[in-house]
Amino acid sequence: MQYIDYGFQGRTAIITGAGSGIGQACAVELAKGGANVALFGRRQQPLEETAQECLKYGGEVLIMPVDVSDRVQSAEGIIEVYAQWRRIDILMNVAGIESALEPGQELDDLFDTFDEESYLKFFSVHSWGHYNMNLAVIPIMQKQHFGRVVNVTSVTGITGQWSTPPYTASKAAAILQTRAFAKKYGKDNITFNSISPGMVNTPMKSGSSPEEFAYVASLTPLGHVAEPIEIARAALFFAQENLFVTGQNLIVDGGSN
Ligand SMILES: NC(=O)c1ccc[n+]([C@@H]2O[C@H](COP(=O)([O-])OP(=O)(O)OC[C@H]3O[C@@H](n4cnc5c(N)ncnc54)[C@H](OP(=O)(O)O)[C@@H]3O)[C@@H](O)[C@H]2O)c1
Repeated sequence: MQYIDYGFQGRTAIITGAGSGIGQACAVELAKGGANVALFGRRQQPLEETAQECLKYGGEVLIMPVDVSDRVQSAEGIIEVYAQWRRIDILMNVAGIESALEPGQELDDLFDTFDEESYLKFFSVHSWGHYNMNLAVIPIMQKQHFGRVVNVTSVTGITGQWSTPPYTASKAAAILQTRAFAKKYGKDNITFNSISPGMVNTPMKSGSSPEEFAYVASLTPLGHVAEPIEIARAALFFAQENLFVTGQNLIVDGGSN
């Protein structure tokens, strides 16, 4: 398939959750377009695997083992990237979590089992994590009078989900928080938009059965469960320089909702 050139050559981008799935696809697609990419995630090994792929396209790659729910780690990671490249053009907040399941357990079984800590964990990565990363990167983007922030949320943050209330609620929070940032920082030419995927074939869904994939595909007008690159392509649209769109959310679910 032809690569759409959004003018990423020489741009610098941070991608969180870059070790796998959607974050990895975003990093590789940005690298393909000529961007230098900084890969954020908690574990070093998956980030190194993404780095190997990105390096094939000739740009620079930085690996930042960072937990985005940690304010200090997020800020320090961003300072390190800025020290290397002296600008940060694009931030993609992709990192996310889902509940770990015991063998034989369904997400639905968890509905009423969350305690305060396990409930708030979703918020700490999804909305607090975006908040941390945004606040650290904004002064740099303000200085440049340019920035493109893309937040990966979930369609369940709009439609609701029957299985995990804190996942759904934290994604809804992340969608509206995107709008709050958009309204405040538009004057600095920093745009904030979000992408809400439906089901995507990533390690997060490794516990889903083939029957579940087939069921979701059967409910999807475009006929299949998304691959990570299909989400990344939508994210890239929001990262382009010539953009008069901010505070918007794009559902990328093959037409299911
Ligand atoms: N797959 C789906 O069906 C689907 C649907 C809708 C929305 N989404 C959203 O899409 C995003 C990407 O998910 P995915 O499907 O690509 O899943 P994934 O393959 O599990 O990727 C999630 C990534 O986030 C990183 N991460 C998790 N917690 C982190 C933290 N505190 N700090 C930094 N990095 C962290 C993980 O790496 P480490 O563990 O090494 O940190 C991992 O690389 C998530 O926000 C998810 O909620 C996914």
